[in-house]
Amino acid sequence: MTSTAVLAYSGGLDTSCAIAWLKEDYGFDDVVAVLVDVGQDTDFEPAFARGRAAGANDVLLLDRKDAFADEQVAKALLANALYQGRYPLISALSRPVIAEAVAEVALELGAEAVVHGCTGKGNDQLRFELAFKARYPGIRVIAPLRDHSWTRDEELAYAAARGIPVEATSASPYSIDDNLFGRAIEAGALEDPWAAPPEDAFALTASPSSAPAPHEVVLAFDAGLPVALDDEELPLAGLVARLNEQAGAYGVGRIDMIENRAVGIKSRELYEAPAAVTLIAAHQALEELVLTKDELFAKRELEPKWAKLVYDGLWFSPLREAYDAFFAATQRLVTGEIRVSLQAGVAVVTGRRSEHALYAETLASYGTGETFPHDAAEGFLRILALEVEQAAARQRRTARV
Ligand code: ARG
Repeated sequence: MTSTAVLAYSGGLDTSCAIAWLKEDYGFDDVVAVLVDVGQDTDFEPAFARGRAAGANDVLLLDRKDAFADEQVAKALLANALYQGRYPLISALSRPVIAEAVAEVALELGAEAVVHGCTGKGNDQLRFELAFKARYPGIRVIAPLRDHSWTRDEELAYAAARGIPVEATSASPYSIDDNLFGRAIEAGALEDPWAAPPEDAFALTASPSSAPAPHEVVLAFDAGLPVALDDEELPLAGLVARLNEQAGAYGVGRIDMIENRAVGIKSRELYEAPAAVTLIAAHQALEELVLTKDELFAKRELEPKWAKLVYDGLWFSPLREAYDAFFAATQRLVTGEIRVSLQAGVAVVTGRRSEHALYAETLASYGTGETFPHDAAEGFLRILALEVEQAAARQRRTARV
């Protein structure tokens, strides 16, 4: 009987070498490499060639762009998900989709193992392995890049000896992961947290210092999700792509942070997420207009917990589903329009409107014709003050004894 391993393949040097290792060191007869398209900026043709040269019996390309946008990206937007209040979870969101696709192929083939190219130092190993196990309980998971810690030069030599073409894989001085929701940049010169981000690290955003004159866009939301940009209805993946371009030209969504990884280390991370940052600001603004105070405050307490759970690799978990059920229940009336001014490095909300707004000008206005029941405020305060007075009196009493 032949043994088969199914690999989450990126087309890069690490996972290309992993194909050969799986045969030579791990003894698999067949290796199936699965490329999953989540909107990354990769040329898949050379990746196919590299995978075959490395010895893959099959290299598959699965298009999961829309599934990724409509499931992970949509839920992240409803959750206003920002890890540490800043990182829109770009990589953390894509892993469950990629792992799910790989697990589906493995199940179909009755494979013995699924494989990922993560090291032991990062978060992605959690996301892949937990998603693999959630989608294919009991499957053996192999992480060759965690088992072997090889230097880049050793890997290059290994690839060269096996005729694996590497030229295009050694271009970037950084470690990059990208998808339709944004781009993550690590390592190289960034490892010094004092070093300013070099301009060559960025690909989706122009420098804010070269931003054109401010420009306003109108985002329409339906039940919490963006559905149109400047009156043009677009599917979510298309809307995100369009906004990445428009807001990216202003340098919106550049994030430079020290991140707390699940494995206990801090790392210096750069992100580019023009659409994510703009959409989350706009969605929050619409929620402020429509949700009750209590709904809003309860949701804002849960949002960072959702972000941490997904960051830590628990996309496929009952708790994430429960949070999402709560978020979905709050979004029914989050329909309306937000006007955003794109400016150098920032997306500023300048207007909001919704037929479901709880904002009432007649109550809020300081002008004439307002209807706020001023006389009721007096009684409201007398009752509110009862406990304040009791506590103050007690303080005076106890201070004396
Ligand atoms: N630190 C981010 C995260 O854990 C990004 C990781 C992306 N991986 C990479 N090879 N650059 O989600």
